[in-house]
Amino acid sequence: MEKTYHKLLENNKAWATLKLNNDPDYFETLAKGQTPEYLWIGCSDSRVPANEITGTRPGEIFVHRNIANMVVHSDMNMLSVLSYAVEVLKVKHVIVCGHYGCGGVIAAMGNKQYGLIDNWLRHIKDVYRFHHVELDAIEDETERERRFVEVNVIEQVHDLGKTSIVQNAWKRNQPLHIHGWVYDIHDGIINDLGVTFTCTKDLHKVYQLKDM
Ligand code: CO
Repeated sequence: MEKTYHKLLENNKAWATLKLNNDPDYFETLAKGQTPEYLWIGCSDSRVPANEITGTRPGEIFVHRNIANMVVHSDMNMLSVLSYAVEVLKVKHVIVCGHYGCGGVIAAMGNKQYGLIDNWLRHIKDVYRFHHVELDAIEDETERERRFVEVNVIEQVHDLGKTSIVQNAWKRNQPLHIHGWVYDIHDGIINDLGVTFTCTKDLHKVYQLKDM
């Protein structure tokens, strides 16, 4: 097997050298700590790298990625990232960024079995059921896929708002905005869906938590 991964290590050395040439303290400064303003919840898809498409540097975005950028309230990994980002790093913005052509979302629209991952895709199928009237009315399959990607992001914004982590931050008057974005892999542009949650009132009343 060709050792193509060697290239990654060589690239890394070249990158580190370049950074040091530009700023001899670059790594020492970063090593002191991080104060990112953003938490990015994106898809694992290799074509959607959070830092590169937003022009941000190391230290600027705290990142969590999974298949189809899901916020599953029993997912300890996601909850731990969210808790640390909101309560310790005190990020000001949480961004759920989906992308058109998302394999996870497209798979969730179909009925094919894929194995273990079907358990993950089922969360996305639930989103389809919530929005089936709107989605089933879209005849063009590509258009229906694109809208499904969008409504999936919107549902994940709701799901973030439902967490006690986010609601307690709002109760403390901590500035925290939750955004829903979709990246278009065809033109590289991120579309803001305009669903920004900034307080508990943005949620349906059944999800609004009182103090313990
Ligand atoms: Co995807």
